[in-house]
Amino acid sequence: MASTEGARASWSGKWAFILAAAASAVGLGNMWRFPYLAAKYGGGTFLLTYLVLVFTFGVSLLLLETALGRKTGQSAIGAFSSFGKKYTFIGVLASAVPFIITPYYCIIGGWVTKYTASYVAAGADALADGGGFFTNFITSNVESYVWMLIFMVLVFVIVGLGVKGGIEKANLFMMPALIVMAIFIALYTLTMPGAVEGALYYLTPDFSKFSPELVISALGQMFYSLSLAMGIMITYGSYMRKQDSLTSSVVRIGCFDLGVSFLAGLMIVPAAFVAMGSGEAVASNAGPSLMFITLPSVFVDMQGMAAVIGFVFFLLVLFAALTSAISLTETLVSIVQDGVKCSRKKALGIVVAFVVIAGAVINAGYNVASFIEPLGAGTSLLDLADFFSNSVLMPIVALLTCIFVGWIIKPKAIIDEVRVSSKFSAAGAWTVMIKYIAPVLVIVILVAYVAAQFGFFSM
Ligand code: TRP
Repeated sequence: MASTEGARASWSGKWAFILAAAASAVGLGNMWRFPYLAAKYGGGTFLLTYLVLVFTFGVSLLLLETALGRKTGQSAIGAFSSFGKKYTFIGVLASAVPFIITPYYCIIGGWVTKYTASYVAAGADALADGGGFFTNFITSNVESYVWMLIFMVLVFVIVGLGVKGGIEKANLFMMPALIVMAIFIALYTLTMPGAVEGALYYLTPDFSKFSPELVISALGQMFYSLSLAMGIMITYGSYMRKQDSLTSSVVRIGCFDLGVSFLAGLMIVPAAFVAMGSGEAVASNAGPSLMFITLPSVFVDMQGMAAVIGFVFFLLVLFAALTSAISLTETLVSIVQDGVKCSRKKALGIVVAFVVIAGAVINAGYNVASFIEPLGAGTSLLDLADFFSNSVLMPIVALLTCIFVGWIIKPKAIIDEVRVSSKFSAAGAWTVMIKYIAPVLVIVILVAYVAAQFGFFSM
């Protein structure tokens, strides 16, 4: 793991880097977004498309970012400006993304914390009332803030304990626990009557569902899930040692993230299928409410096991959310520390103040300020923050990064860095990816997301 003392932090080894990158990648995106996208886009067809994208586009960009970080030995802003002052803005844009994501990520983290606690305190029935529980909670003027703060305090305490003392230990405990719980829940849900049929719906490709819209959604999901285009992987790469292979590390990170997304789908899609009776019903109801409204009503049918399954499920989602929020917060701390040139402690203080205030403002969008509907009827401030960071800023940063490496500093600079520690036989294909394919795909995502948001077509 990275140490905070001395000149420049470095990982204690390749596995420490892989675990930290995986902890950052595996989060609410895998648990909450991936399953509903898979359900919506015909199961297996989405899985296959996603798999192909991760191992072409995703891994190529992961490699680019980590190699850029290791080559320059700097986090995002410094990495870009080391090639000339005029490129600093790319690093600044990349660093803006986690500032927008962290506050609203902690709000959803608060919802998950509330659900985990409620399975202990109130039992499974209370949560399975068809949506009333959820709506009352997020619209409350006090409770929703309290749970957001509880989640934030957990994150700040772990980050405050430092990279070695807090973050490393938290990951080492939470990541394996998360995997074990996910396998347990997936196996348990598969024993429910009708669940096997749901699993088949999830796994069997239905090629009639294949569409440009599916590819665009899969691409957007991949960016978010792999934590690409926000400077994090550049920072993590800068902590890597010259002898550790970049190629095998990024492939492992891709496998890990994909594996957890796959498992999450295997827990959630068959369960939703049991509740709704058909693949079509799941597809048409697939959305953010799948986790907070549909699942509790599935769990309640498990009778004696209901509260146990509900608790374990939300605890594992909580672990996923915590490890990602920790990584996001750590990134903010390092940006502030480098930018303001202050101590780590002071930087953490600034970050805490920012995240709490911004979180409270965004959360107000569900209650005291719910009259603000920034993207049209029924939308919230959280939707706006999510849209702006994921659908606008991240594609722009990805595009600029590919142009920067593909056409300005030239791919050879990165290929040479990769070859310091391992063979790179796919260098030719990688170059084509970064120079031509990736920029075109990214422009397509950007245009499609913005067009969909403003109602030119629906996604
Ligand atoms: N990848 C995380 C997830 O799947 C979310 C995320 C996006 C993230 N960007 C990040 C996490 C940066 C940590 C750091 O939920």
